Amino acid sequence: KRAKCIIDKDYVIAEVDPKLYGSFIEHLGRAIYSGIYEPSHPTADEQGFRQDVLQLVRELAVPIVRYPGGNFVSGYSWTDGIGPVAGRSRRLDYAWQSIEPNQVGIDEFADWCRKAGAAVMAAVNLGTGTPQDAGYMLEYCNHPAGTYWSDLRIKNGHSEPHNIKVWCLGNEMDGPWQTCALSAADYGKKARETAKIMKWVDPSIELVVCGSSGPHMATYPEWDRVVLEHTYEQADYISMHRYYENEGSIENFLASFADMNEFIKTVAATADYVKAKARSPKTMKISFDEWNVWYIKKQTRIPWTEAPAILEDRYSLLDALVFGGMLCTLLNHCDRVRMACLAQLVNVIAPIFTEKGGRVLKQATYYPFQQVSLYGRGTALKTLTEAEKFTTTLYGDVPSVQTAATYNGEDGSITVFALNCDMKEDTELVLDLRSFGSVTMREHRIMDGPDLFAQNTFAAQDTVAPRNGSIVAGRNKVTTILPKLSWNMFRFG
Ligand code: AHR
Repeated sequence: KRAKCIIDKDYVIAEVDPKLYGSFIEHLGRAIYSGIYEPSHPTADEQGFRQDVLQLVRELAVPIVRYPGGNFVSGYSWTDGIGPVAGRSRRLDYAWQSIEPNQVGIDEFADWCRKAGAAVMAAVNLGTGTPQDAGYMLEYCNHPAGTYWSDLRIKNGHSEPHNIKVWCLGNEMDGPWQTCALSAADYGKKARETAKIMKWVDPSIELVVCGSSGPHMATYPEWDRVVLEHTYEQADYISMHRYYENEGSIENFLASFADMNEFIKTVAATADYVKAKARSPKTMKISFDEWNVWYIKKQTRIPWTEAPAILEDRYSLLDALVFGGMLCTLLNHCDRVRMACLAQLVNVIAPIFTEKGGRVLKQATYYPFQQVSLYGRGTALKTLTEAEKFTTTLYGDVPSVQTAATYNGEDGSITVFALNCDMKEDTELVLDLRSFGSVTMREHRIMDGPDLFAQNTFAAQDTVAPRNGSIVAGRNKVTTILPKLSWNMFRFG
């Protein structure tokens, strides 16, 4: 098979906002307890945070982490998570039918984020919560001093404000599974009134309104239109959520990137319709704040336990390939999708997996995320790619090679990402970097292998990990090989 890809310095999509490589930690399963926080763990620091996990998070260079949910947030009282840890209430978490011990709250999470080199993206409760609760939480976090809530933060040991800049107005409020779900109009009004209070409290923040929970919702994309009509003035982003799984057709699963592409285009078009109707000069940004591969949706388990081991998906090479394709789609839309969160980061549908009291593991999806987070920065460039198509029952004919590219103006390096979906043959790819003068290929990293379903385990930790490909010479046009069913990263300098 043959494919070609033209990349030109002038075909700019946008400067990549580093927030495109955000992630998400929810009070869910073992994400917090025995994930990031385990005071009895041998690597725990003075606050009880696992340093083995922190190290792997730092190596992903995640710039922002969404917290505390997710579905959890819609029944959560943030005040349960502040003050002396020993005196905190144990509560029923309605969303995940678990017991929430509240040993970690917003103060501890802000500290953890500082240690991880990330910012907090906080969500307020618009299920059981009120607009005023949201204002109080923001005041607690961001107001410098001299008021009830800011002084309470100081009393609780944080003299400096957390200065949280991005806030989500609830979570998936269109979903019947959500605690106190709302209609689009009711949510739109509640989100707008909450937004007004929050921007009065701190005008420097940015706000994310809930878009549809996914394109499968009966109310999609009407929900997005109605919500934006109520909130266009106050909102800075509309959220998108999408998870994919292998439902029996590898072709359909591999083509998830094409579906994600259509989904983004529809939400952007809906937002632009509202923009035109509102005669607004503002273009609504998209926060794709939940995306991943996710299989385990429901699990039989004993309800009302603390930190149950739920939604602990283990990822395969195939999942990592699909995941790479999704990363390319996000990058190719980074003019509009200014922020995204890999859902989630530790233990729950996550690239990092821990043993309670024991080891930590990089799942297969850790690697594509790390590569794109580290090197998919700078200027995103359009890749004009011609490749054969493959047929899917869900999305029609889809190109078998998905690509994305970035240019770093500071050091002149170019990075190209490529997913080869061809199941039978390698593809000879001509990379035409015509406007770049003379460039040298420095690196070709490949994820592929004989077993699509291979996974990393504690016994064989590097079963699915990138390997080196051949370095090919050429002034600014190189012919290289994308192995069948492979994820590739090329770096040129
Ligand atoms: O990420 C897991 C869950 O998926 C989140 O809590 C919810 O927002 C979504 O349905």
